[in-house]
Amino acid sequence: MKSYKVAVIGAGDMGSNHAAAWKLAGHEVISITDIDEPRAQSIANQYELEKVYTDYKQAAADPEAEIISICLPLPFHAPVTIYAAQQGKHVFCEKPLANSFQDAAAMEEAVRKAGVQFGIGFQRNLSNSLKQVKQWADEGKFGTPMVINSTNMMEVRPKRIMHDANGNNGPIMDTGCHYFLMWQTIFGSKPKSIYARGGILAKDRAELSHIQSLAIDTGIITVEYESGDIAEMTVSWGLPAGFKMGGRTDRIFGPKGGAEGSFNNVTDRLMLYEGGEKEEVPVDRNQNLHQDQFALFAEAIEKGEPAPVSFQAGKEMLAVTLAILESIETEKVVSYVHP
Ligand SMILES: NC(=O)c1ccc[n+]([C@@H]2O[C@H](COP(=O)([O-])OP(=O)(O)OC[C@H]3O[C@@H](n4cnc5c(N)ncnc54)[C@H](O)[C@@H]3O)[C@@H](O)[C@H]2O)c1
Repeated sequence: MKSYKVAVIGAGDMGSNHAAAWKLAGHEVISITDIDEPRAQSIANQYELEKVYTDYKQAAADPEAEIISICLPLPFHAPVTIYAAQQGKHVFCEKPLANSFQDAAAMEEAVRKAGVQFGIGFQRNLSNSLKQVKQWADEGKFGTPMVINSTNMMEVRPKRIMHDANGNNGPIMDTGCHYFLMWQTIFGSKPKSIYARGGILAKDRAELSHIQSLAIDTGIITVEYESGDIAEMTVSWGLPAGFKMGGRTDRIFGPKGGAEGSFNNVTDRLMLYEGGEKEEVPVDRNQNLHQDQFALFAEAIEKGEPAPVSFQAGKEMLAVTLAILESIETEKVVSYVHP
């Protein structure tokens, strides 16, 4: 397989993950970029990367770079994707795709015009535990209709931009997309209607007082699918520091049985419930989801095929996200409009 030269933009948590995983997938990371130069330098030292930039434009215009791997906060996904595509570079961008359909359309147009490939970071959908739950759902182990209940409950995020409506826009935008994709994968169906209630639990927190427009940090979300299956999520990033309640669990159940675990994470076991029986089912946790997604993306580029997970998935998750936020605002059931 061809080894591509990759420029990683953003030297935070995801930047570090991307640098490691592109290398593991057999590609060469040629540069790291961050406005915070010492941060970029530290990743360069850790992964023995040759070049350090502070300006994404320089990194994307570097003639050596073939793939630009974007690990920046949400407001930069559109401008950096567009600039990188204009330089003729393939783009791999972290989720979520964009904050609006206007930005998503501009990104897609730039990528189409440049004739490059675009991939998005929904690596959690590649987990072995999700494959297992999907297989059980397809085999009819749970019966129909199925109900999924997911929880994602955390203390106020140390990365304050996560709470900024003009930044990563809270958990429904930032982390919701992983769950919405997981639900639609398990059900094999598209959403039909959405109802959600929510608010801002952390509105009086001193550490967020500098943010002008706080994002909704808490929601109870119900999504009904065309198949008749239903997903429900309780999400909050407004909990007190050190909050210890089990934060991330998924449960699926139907008239015949159910399963419990962390469905879109690397995990070593799932619980399966059939009738009155309960079984702990081992799951192979020997996988690096970022490495796997980069291998699939690079393979698609090499074969000249469309990226396996790209704009369509990103836009579908954006449509669910915006419908949830609309439902919270209007207090009405919102129909899902397929993008
Ligand atoms: N796929 C996943 O599971 C997953 C997990 C976590 C985060 N993410 C996504 O990855 C993206 C980045 O998140 P993170 O957790 O790495 O954030 P982070 O805050 O750890 O890192 C972001 C970095 O970008 C830098 N930066 C900001 N603006 C810049 C600019 N204009 N030019 C250059 N550098 C700039 C910051 O200095 C920071 O170092 C977000 O969109 C987030 O939603 C995805």
